[in-house]
Amino acid sequence: SERTAFYDEVGGHATFERLVARFYAAVRTDPVLAPLYPQDDWEGAETRLRRFLEQYWGGPTTYSDERGHPRLRMRHAPFAIGPAERNAWLRHMRDAVDSLDLPPEQDATLWGYLAMAARSMQNRFPAD
Ligand code: HEM
Repeated sequence: SERTAFYDEVGGHATFERLVARFYAAVRTDPVLAPLYPQDDWEGAETRLRRFLEQYWGGPTTYSDERGHPRLRMRHAPFAIGPAERNAWLRHMRDAVDSLDLPPEQDATLWGYLAMAARSMQNRFPAD
């Protein structure tokens, strides 16, 4: 499928490993985001996100083999994700995607998905 091609095109496992390593290095020290994450299982959180993204783009299905259906909105329900959390998440992810130095078309494909997914994970909408 097109997605399988994309997983391979961007460099497969090694690329997703670099992406999430860079992302979580920043999240761990982010004052807004770090408190939301399991302080005793950073490595597990990194692995879950990596496996999910690998599966989404057509790589191995290890994520669902271990976790079942992603149901990402439901899994994020315990965390208050407003504009500040979503913006911080996206800022670190943008930096991590930049670090991959992908060709512009691949960058746009990956980023388009991540930005859309982050919008859909927001579950607090403060009135202004
Ligand atoms: C899990 C925060 C957006 C994918 C988590 C966890 C937190 C979190 C605190 C729990 C860590 C763990 O134990 O795994 C956030 C925040 C977001 C955001 C603040 C800001 C919008 C996203 C997006 C995606 C995503 C856009 C997908 C593209 C995941 C996955 C898990 C996870 C796959 C593990 C779910 C599981 O199997 O339990 N997120 N997240 N998150 N997040 Fe997010």
